[in-house]
Amino acid sequence: MNVADSEVVASILAQNGFESTSEIKEAGLILINTCSIRDNAEQRIWGRLKAIGHLKRKNNATIGLLGCMAERLREQILEKEHLVDLIAGPDSYRDLPSLISEAETGHKAVNVLLSREETYADINPVRMDRNGVTSFVSIMRGCNNMCAYCVVPYVRGAERSRDPGSVIREVRDLVSKGYREVTLLGQNVDSYNWKDEAGQVDFPALLEMTALVDPSLRVRFSTSHPKDISDELLKTIARYPNICRHIHLPAQSGSSRILKLMNRDYTREWYMDRISAIRSIIPGCAISTDIIAGFCTETEEDHKDTLSLMEWVGYDFAYMFKYSERPGTKAARKYPDDVPEEIKTRRLNEIISVQNTLSARSKKQDVGRVFEVLTEDFSKRSQDFLSGRTSQNKVVVFPAEGHRKGEYVNVRVERCTSATLIGKAV
Ligand code: 5AD
Ligand code: SF4
Repeated sequence: MNVADSEVVASILAQNGFESTSEIKEAGLILINTCSIRDNAEQRIWGRLKAIGHLKRKNNATIGLLGCMAERLREQILEKEHLVDLIAGPDSYRDLPSLISEAETGHKAVNVLLSREETYADINPVRMDRNGVTSFVSIMRGCNNMCAYCVVPYVRGAERSRDPGSVIREVRDLVSKGYREVTLLGQNVDSYNWKDEAGQVDFPALLEMTALVDPSLRVRFSTSHPKDISDELLKTIARYPNICRHIHLPAQSGSSRILKLMNRDYTREWYMDRISAIRSIIPGCAISTDIIAGFCTETEEDHKDTLSLMEWVGYDFAYMFKYSERPGTKAARKYPDDVPEEIKTRRLNEIISVQNTLSARSKKQDVGRVFEVLTEDFSKRSQDFLSGRTSQNKVVVFPAEGHRKGEYVNVRVERCTSATLIGKAV
């Protein structure tokens, strides 16, 4: 999400005559895009600001904070952080050129207004990914879900969908530049909904339109919400081989009691039903998840429910976090953050350990099989090897031998490490 936002910012600045540099020491303007989702994300930004303080003194560089943390902490930043000249929330990027001019006159420049309409639909992002093969396309902004632990609805505002015509134009443009994979991005893509005189476009329809742009373009999406992921969507995925066989479906917890407190609007049983639907409608589909350890009032039994759900699903991959209280959220206002830090840590470690076993199993099952791999770049270790991903989103490394990046190559998997499948082109 933040990469996609930074690309929008880069495009707005380029249109206004700014040039980028890869040498931070040369920059007259330094913008830091920020995330507020967990406290440690914010702590990293404070550290970063300290580290670049000398550039302000040396080059008289203008320093700006963008994104969620700017939205959340504007007053605190203005009061305490004298380094920061400019603050722009996630819906204010069009205003950046004038904010920068204002900041350059020595005034603190601030715009953190959230919008009900802004989707940056007409801005063609400047791609900051290096490989030229895979890219993100933002299809909506904000979120209406109000999960009790989550700061996103407060810092990124209400949900709004982007005009499907502009999404498809952006995808076509990427294809014409040689890109071979797009990931459609939104906080809850299943609630994508666009209405105009011509009619209505929901997420399955948008996904289908994207898949039809070019059969050799891979299409991914993130993130689905278990309460909204429909059989219609699953059937759309099943119909198009170029829609990748991978669904990221954050469970957050395996305990129905905790899910209710989290305001997630589904139970363990509902979640399991959705997994069964994925397995039956899209055979061979990889499934990944997000898990939070130690949410308010979580008992040992709730935690065991999470571990058993993970085993039951057999996730191929997971992002795992300790619960981090975010000021202003429903959980912060109403529930005690009462799981002691050492217990959160122990539970997170148990979750990670279960996932390590599941991830290893998922990779071992692939040994001996042939996968179509979209190659993205040389492997980090050696220019003699290419690295790419399967439709199931698993990383594969194989000898380059005449192949290029951006090419589809059939690879037989011969062995695996903890993070990677290793094989040979067949
Ligand atoms: N504490 C810990 N994890 C969180 N997430 C969101 N908010 C919090 C929080 N306050 C996690 C959820 C979400 C992912 C993007 O970040 O698992 O799916
Ligand atoms: Fe946060 Fe829930 Fe919205 Fe995801 S769906 S961004 S977790 S409020």
